[in-house]
Amino acid sequence: EKGGYETFMEKEIHEQPHAVADTLLGRTDDEGRLVLDEVRISEEQLGQIDRIVVVACGTAAYSGMVAKYAIEHWTRIPVEVSLAHEFRYSDPIADARTLVVSISQSGETMDTLMAVKHARELGALTLSICNTHGSTIPRESDAVLYTHAGPEVAVASTKGFSAQITAAYVLGLYLAQMRGGEHAVNAQAVMRELRNLPEHIQTVLDRMDRVIEIARFMADSRSVLFLGRNVGYPIALEGALKLKEIAYIHAEGFAAGELKHGPIALIEPGQPVFIVVPGPDTPHELHKKVVSNIQEIRARGARTLVIAEDGDEDVVPFADEVIRVPATLPLLMPLLTIVPLQIFALHLATAKGLDVDQPRNLAKSVTVE
Ligand code: F6R
Repeated sequence: EKGGYETFMEKEIHEQPHAVADTLLGRTDDEGRLVLDEVRISEEQLGQIDRIVVVACGTAAYSGMVAKYAIEHWTRIPVEVSLAHEFRYSDPIADARTLVVSISQSGETMDTLMAVKHARELGALTLSICNTHGSTIPRESDAVLYTHAGPEVAVASTKGFSAQITAAYVLGLYLAQMRGGEHAVNAQAVMRELRNLPEHIQTVLDRMDRVIEIARFMADSRSVLFLGRNVGYPIALEGALKLKEIAYIHAEGFAAGELKHGPIALIEPGQPVFIVVPGPDTPHELHKKVVSNIQEIRARGARTLVIAEDGDEDVVPFADEVIRVPATLPLLMPLLTIVPLQIFALHLATAKGLDVDQPRNLAKSVTVE
């Protein structure tokens, strides 16, 4: 049942090319236009939304953060991301022009369910991005966009996360297409590139030998930091969460721009830091800014583990290790950059002799508030 892998987590990490491809399947017509047959909210209703609020917990909330950058850029519709348990009891603002998008692998997370129910009471439109057919959250929502990752058994979410990001991209591109004009033209181009991502993910998986080696060397680490910017920021948070969950190592993710506002004080000689580097084509010179962050922490003795695109030579002088991912559109990079961080957590936890599929104190679905 583990298909030749040692653990479900390892199997599920390796199923990501399929999870992404299957989540994209059947979502375009012969002309390459996006179709969302299962979403039973009329185009008219969707055309009226002026705001999107994503509600989710944990890893699913990090996929929502990726969605925010992408959907705002493609549609110019404002997107907020709220942890579901914070949203529910903060006296939130939502009405018929608000689309509340819940994201949940299990479809049973009580915190997320309560947020969705409350959003409906407020009159908002609710759409569920979910991996589990017939589960509670999609049933309680106006519409559902299923991810097709297949059953996720390991407690730590991996392919569920990639599939959530993929579905959120599809939703964003669909809304962009609805807006027409330039938005629609751009949506088609992004969709074409998105179709290449399963193959790119496979390329990353095929290159993981060195990351596995690094993870084994680092089995006795006490603390690991993760930096990212723009869509790399939620990936830094997710990389840190994976390490906490399955390897029980203190880990923190930061927005790279925050470094000088505090976290740089943590850097001492030998401190391992993963840096998720934006592609060189990312607007506003974010690439250059993150390269200078790497330089700053390296100068203070950090051990820099850099995740960068193929051909990005600017990082090389400041990197102790360079982990390469294929080049793609800046907003699609998370589907690639998360993979080495999942592999790292998996192999570090395995080297410590831990049960990666059933980490202590955690349950696969959290059905109490
Ligand atoms: C992380 C993890 C949790 C879940 C969170 C939401 O590896 O498993 O953070 O992502 O509990 O679960 P779902 O997506 O089922 O609502």
